[in-house]
Formats: sequence, C-alpha cells, structure tokens
Amino acid sequence: MSLNQKKENIPSHIAIIMDGNGRWAKQKSKMRLYGHLNGVKSVRETVECAAELGVNFLTLYAFSKENWDRPKKEIKGLMNLLIKTIKKEIPTLMKNKISLKTIGNTQDLPLKCQNNLKEAIETTKDNNHMTLILALSYSSRWEIVEAVKKIIKNKSIHSKINEQIFSEYLTTNKIPDPELVIRTSGEHRISNFLLWQIAYSEFYFSRKMWPDFNKQDLIRAINSYKKRKRRFGKIK
Ligand code: FPP
Repeated sequence: MSLNQKKENIPSHIAIIMDGNGRWAKQKSKMRLYGHLNGVKSVRETVECAAELGVNFLTLYAFSKENWDRPKKEIKGLMNLLIKTIKKEIPTLMKNKISLKTIGNTQDLPLKCQNNLKEAIETTKDNNHMTLILALSYSSRWEIVEAVKKIIKNKSIHSKINEQIFSEYLTTNKIPDPELVIRTSGEHRISNFLLWQIAYSEFYFSRKMWPDFNKQDLIRAINSYKKRKRRFGKIK
C-alpha cells in the first residue's frame, strides 16, 4: 500500500485509541501483558511511519483513568513496560527529531515512570519534526472538569470565556485538534478520549488488534481520510 497523492493533505494531528492488546494475547493463549508487550512494537512502527509521512502531532491513548480499575498485576506490568520503553526510546526520538509530551494526570503514575517521562520530555523538547503525545492517566471528562476548576479560580476571565479561551485550559493547550482519530480492534466507541477536541475529527476504525497494526494500516487510514469531504457543518 502506498500513500495516495504522495504527501498532500496528510492530517497534521492523528490520535489513536490503541485497543485489542488483551484479546490479541487471549487468541494466542497468552497473558494479557504479552499483548501489551507486542503493542509496543506497533507503537514504534506507527511513530516512525507517522514521522516519515510528515504528521506533526501523534497522540496515543496509552492509559486511561478508567484503566486504574484493572487487576493490580496488569497495571504493574503496564507501568513497568512504560518505564522501560520511555527510557529505551529516547535515542530513537532524538534521531527522528520527535519531541515527547503527555496529557493526563501523570501525578497518578509511579514515581519512576514520572521521572523517566520528565527526563524524556526535557531531552526531546527542542526536537521539531513531530510531537508525540502520550495520554497517560487521561480521561476527557476529568480534563474538562479540571479546566472548569481552573477557570472558576480565575475570576478575571469569567466574562471573556469563549471556545478559544476554554481550549487553553485543557491539557491539549497549543496542540491543534486531531483531524483523524483511529481506533483498532473493531470497537466503535470513543472511551472518554479527547471529547472536546474531536468535535470535527474524521474517524477510522480498523478491525485489527493493536499488536497487528502496522505501517500499511496507518497508510490505509490516511488514504481513507484523504478521500473524505470535510464540510464542518457548512454546505461547501
Ligand atoms: C488497550 O488494549 C491497550 C492499553 C490499555 C494499553 C496500551 C499500551 C501499550 C500499547 C503499551 C505501552 C505504550 C507505550 C506508549 C509505550 P486492551 O488491554 O484494552 O485490550 P482488550 O480490549 O482486548 O482487552
């Protein structure tokens, strides 16, 4: 699969709900963590491919606030995987000029994970080819409520509030809204992800489980996006 019309009309921001790691592992009679481990390969391939294609922002839904209700063993395994992967991938991020950011309540994460994230964010902060945004301990309703709390405290802006100012109080401040949202595993739901930011996003659902999602699948999603007519509620 190649990219239709080369690099024209590539979405500037792609957001991905990486779903299906557990089911992928179950199909292979393996532990759920084996699915997450193999999900990291798809993360790496997707990040490199997005950077090659000229995507400016890539947001990955890596851990939701709701995911804290999973069994302790799975959470511990996932956190260890994050700790290891973040540290290990810094040289690749540097090589590809990718800066790392997070959205979500990262204070919920284990201290080691917070420290590795801080180090990776600081080391990569001047890279300007692509921004990789990891949604960690993120949920959109949490983010919206946090924004409202901050606005309540700042009385001077109450009479000026509009959509633009409200967006500045979200964790995605300065990040443009995603043009394309991809969800894997054949599920068709949004799971508390970027509810404000996806008002006019295009959706692409892949039946593949996340560990099977590869470069060709990303190109397929982008080609599908390129064929869409986006009207934003207008006629033309
Ligand atoms: C959803 O599959 C996946 C997750 C909750 C975790 C995603 C994490 C990774 C891909 C690995 C680490 C990520 C980075 C960025 C280094 P699921 O467990 O909900 O699968 P299921 O729906 O089949 O149960």
